[in-house]
This record gives sequence, C-alpha cells and structure tokens, in this order.
Amino acid sequence: MNIAFADISLAKPGALAVLVTEGATLRGVAADLDGKLGGALKRAVKAAGFTGKSGSVLEVVGPQGVSATRILLAGLGKSADVSAANLEKAGGELAGRIGKANEASLSIVLDGISAPKLTAAEAAARVAFGARLRSYNFDKYKTKKKDDGKKTELKSITVMTRAAAAARKDYGTLSKVADGMALARDLVNEPPNVLFPGEFAKRARALSKLGVKVEVLGEAAMKKLGMGSLLGVGYGSQHESQLVVMRWMGGKQGEKPVAFVGKGVCFDTGGISLKPGAGMEDMKGDMGGAACVTGLMHTLAARKAKVNAIGVIGLVENMPDGKAQRPGDIVKSMSGQTIEIINTDAEGRLVLADALWYTQNRFKPKFMIDLATLTGAIMIALGKEYAGLFSNDDKLSKQLTEAGEVEGEKVWRMPMGAVYDKMIDSRFADMKNVGGRDGGSITAAQFLQRFVNKLPWAHLDIAGTAMASPQTATNQSWGSGWGVRLLNRLVADHYEK
Ligand code: BES
Ligand code: MN
Ligand code: ZN
Repeated sequence: MNIAFADISLAKPGALAVLVTEGATLRGVAADLDGKLGGALKRAVKAAGFTGKSGSVLEVVGPQGVSATRILLAGLGKSADVSAANLEKAGGELAGRIGKANEASLSIVLDGISAPKLTAAEAAARVAFGARLRSYNFDKYKTKKKDDGKKTELKSITVMTRAAAAARKDYGTLSKVADGMALARDLVNEPPNVLFPGEFAKRARALSKLGVKVEVLGEAAMKKLGMGSLLGVGYGSQHESQLVVMRWMGGKQGEKPVAFVGKGVCFDTGGISLKPGAGMEDMKGDMGGAACVTGLMHTLAARKAKVNAIGVIGLVENMPDGKAQRPGDIVKSMSGQTIEIINTDAEGRLVLADALWYTQNRFKPKFMIDLATLTGAIMIALGKEYAGLFSNDDKLSKQLTEAGEVEGEKVWRMPMGAVYDKMIDSRFADMKNVGGRDGGSITAAQFLQRFVNKLPWAHLDIAGTAMASPQTATNQSWGSGWGVRLLNRLVADHYEK
C-alpha cells in the first residue's frame, strides 16, 4: 500500500472521499462536488439520513459529472470533538470499505477540518495512519485468492490537504509506529510451527539493520547465569529456549536506560498440566508480550528516538514430554530464590522471573515494564477493553494510564499487597507458582514482584488485548500489536530529550 500526501484536487480518478463534521456535511469541497453532481450528493445525504457522526460513511457509486468512480463522505463527529482518534477511525473506515471495493486508488480530502488539539498537518497524518493500520493484512499462508469478482486491489491512498509537506513529515514518524505495530502483529499471527524460539530470535536479530544491538543467549549461556526458572519451562520442548537482549542507545551517553521485558511463550500447551483442547490454537499468541517489545524496539530505532532503551524477551515453548518439568518440581531462579511448581501451565511468570532479574541487574534501568499474556483471569476482571496494570510506582502508573487514554490502548490499575503476596508462600520452597483461583491475576503479579528490587516497575497483563480482541476501524488483525503505540507514547512524552 502506497500512502502519499498532495494538494487538494477534485480531478483525480478512483474513489474520492471528503471528511466532514456533524452539521457541516456539505460545505467547502463537499459543496463544490455537490454542484458538479447536480445536487446528487445533497439528495444522497438526505435519503441516507447521513449526519456526519464519527465512523459513519456515505457512498455514491458511479457519479456523473466528475472523474471519480465513487464519492464518499466520511464523518468525524462534532467539530469540537475532532481528535486524533476520530481522524484515524475515518481513515480506517475508508480504507476498509475501499479495500473491499473494485478500486485501485483512494483520495481523501481534508478541507476546512480543524481538530482542537492538532495542526492541519497532524490531522492529515492521523487519517493516513488510520488507513495504514486498517490495511494490514496477514494472508501469506493463503495460496488461493477469494473469487469475489474483484479485478483491482487498492494500491494507493492519497491524503489531500493544504499542509501536504508538513503532513508528509508528521506521517514519517507515525509510519514508524505503524511499522512496529505491523511487526508485532506479524509475530503474533505466525503459526507456532514457524515461529518457535529460534525463529523469533532470528527476527529480532534483524533489528540490527536499524542500529539496534542484539544479543541472543541460548540454553548453555542461561544455565551459566543460573536461570533455572526460565529454563524449566522449556525442558519438554524440542526447541531451544532463547533470551534476546535488544539495545537502542539513541539517548545521552551514560544516561540510564528504560527497560521493557516480554513474555515470549511461542506455544503454551500448559505442559504436563495440559490445557483442554478447545481453543488451544490461540496459545500461539502467548508471545504477545515479546512481540510488543520487539515491535517497540523497531519503532524507537526506526524513528531514531532520543532515548536509551533495552528490550529483553524470554522465548520458550511449553510442551508436555518425558523431559518436561512436573508439578512438584522445585527450581532455582537466577535470583537464588526457589520455586515449587504447582501447575506447569503458570509458566509465563517463571520465564519473566529470570528475565526481570537479569534486566534490572545488568542494566540498572530507570524503570522496568513487563508485558505478558499472563492470566485468563485478567479477562474475567477487565474483559478485553483494558489491560491490567500492576505497579509499585504511582508516577509510572499515571504516565501509563494517560498514554493509554491518548493512544486508545487503555490500562486499568489493579491492587497489590501483602495479603495477596502471602498466597504464593510454599511449604517446601521460597514460593509456589500459583496462588489458587482467587485473584489469579494479582497473585501472578505478586510473584513477578518478588523478582523486582527497588526500582519503578509496572506489569501489563495483556492476555485480553494482545490477540483475538474486538475488531475496530483500525485493527482487523487477530494479533493486535497492542502496546507498541502505548509505550512509544510513554517514551516520547516523558523519557526523550
Ligand atoms: N498463557 C496463559 C494465559 C492466557 C489464557 C493467555 C488465555 C491468553 C488467553 C497462561 O500461561 C496460563 O495458562 N495461565 C493460567 C494460570 C493458572 C494455571 C494459575 C490461567 O490463566 O489459567
Ligand atoms: Mn500457561
Ligand atoms: Zn502462557
């Protein structure tokens, strides 16, 4: 998909869309078009009851008197409410609709649209960003095209604005965010026979061409470091576990880095505590945290963010086998703390325990944020609208909550405390890996906190948002790429100079 910016022109062939606000549907360019169409647009608006609500689209196919093959009006809602989110939504709706139509090109006109908090250029760039996110498609394993009578594929989208040059620059940055999200979506969508730990590590290694320093630790190196907690999860797998360390040093020399840690369970069968069969295929997405960290590192490097950032991902496959770890086993983590395995399906926390410990001790970061598809219980608590936020730091929590509201990737802070922590005390070891059914997402977070020393830390439980979340105007993909734009915003707003 080619996305471009140009000055306003109504003489383009292909689909032509005009963005409009509620109560001002036929002003400016829309009124000009209506004139050329002999009033057909006005009649269509009336007949369809189109008011310009956010997300709504009116379509006139095969109009007479213009070179466009179809004309669309796309609503942004009330002019006072026009926001980055509404503009993205309109871009997404249009790209979705025209993507299914028999059109090769789409032009979107922004004329007289002003968003209270954005420049004209930023507004245009947001429309393009929405269209780009919607156009993501993961069809590499389909060998046959659908026979729907369609002869042309949508190849180019042109956003028309009087601020084309500045919009091109603003979109330059947003397109890097879209690239990182697409990488994260790809990683989550890939099947688990293709994306095993070694293959994931190889794809992370490819970030080196953007200037990211990438190190990959195999099982021997992790054993030397004493990562018995992470390693135990992979005992039943034919694939070697991997720990990938990504470093983007775009900030000041010697400045402490920010750190992101991801759960990368490339497939989670549950292990000896085997999961039921129904829906188990979804557990190919149990590396959504690692995918987000990798996508984020891509974005930060591609846009040359002025920050020192570390990404660490623990990559394993959780399989039942003669060599697999058992309930009752006791493993020793890199921190020295011992863990009694009660349920081999509570494996994500075992991976993160060593990854968190390693990250804080090696890099001494300003803060550490981990992302993990950690518990089914978080969906019972929050559904798929919010990710669970668990943290030892009010400031970091506030920054994440605000960034989530702005980017439409929302987080809800959950409680933690000594009473929950006690629930994972073990009779035989320092702790056990499950705390029972009650507060399952919280005891999982308490477990992680036992591997975090005195530094600001936040854990995001993304089991409900990383995959199979509701489709939206800008996301129709199974793997959503959730978290990339959230954390990119956090870095851009607070940790870049
Ligand atoms: N990967 C799962 C959590 C999950 C479930 C993610 C559904 C996405 C969708 C995790 O490893 C797991 O199995 N958690 C268990 C924990 C339990 C054994 C304490 C769970 O949530 O049931
Ligand atoms: Mn599990
Ligand atoms: Zn899991």
